[in-house]
Amino acid sequence: MTRFKLAFLASHGGSNMQSIIDAVKLGHIDADLVAVISNNSNSTALQRAKREGIPDYHISSQTHPDPDQMDAAIADTLRQSGANLVVLAGYMKKIGQRTLEAFKGRILNIHPALLPDFGGQGMYGKRVHEAVLASGTPITGVTIHVIDEQYDNGPVLARAEVAVLEHDTVDSLAERVLKKEHVLYPETIARIVSGEIQLPQS
Ligand code: GRF
Repeated sequence: MTRFKLAFLASHGGSNMQSIIDAVKLGHIDADLVAVISNNSNSTALQRAKREGIPDYHISSQTHPDPDQMDAAIADTLRQSGANLVVLAGYMKKIGQRTLEAFKGRILNIHPALLPDFGGQGMYGKRVHEAVLASGTPITGVTIHVIDEQYDNGPVLARAEVAVLEHDTVDSLAERVLKKEHVLYPETIARIVSGEIQLPQS
């Protein structure tokens, strides 16, 4: 069986990425960590990569003003790193067609709600939790899915529920959902690596 090689794309804090790195270090995920790409040169995600000794790359509209070239640079970097599973961890840019084609069915995303609810273009960060609270739903959660051309679309691999509490604010809800993300993302990747979850077309 081919060994899993994980690459990450992250724009900001990278706390989800860290939870996966920690799971690899603890031996809960039997895989190699081959690259961290960020569109944000100041991101904590890139600092974490440096600290962990994972090759890190800043690829953005600053380094590549043409979106197609940026897409090509991401696809090339991922290919050269040997990655065979790409993990989006708070990556705020849409993945380009070249990267999607090169890693078809092998790019995962995490969303802080139960898709297809509270997903789609513009639904990120606090906006998701604001919409959840405004809807009055008693249950929200976390979704992990394989990406396709559309925002927050594609086959769902795992879901976990989080209760919305009576006095929840956007911040308190976001914090509880993020804690669940830190459990579900590494757990799901461990299940992919062990063969318990089959990726589409792999
Ligand atoms: C998480 O809430 C994730 O669901 C969303 O972006 C956030 C990233 O947080 N896609 P972090 O960068 O992993 O801390």
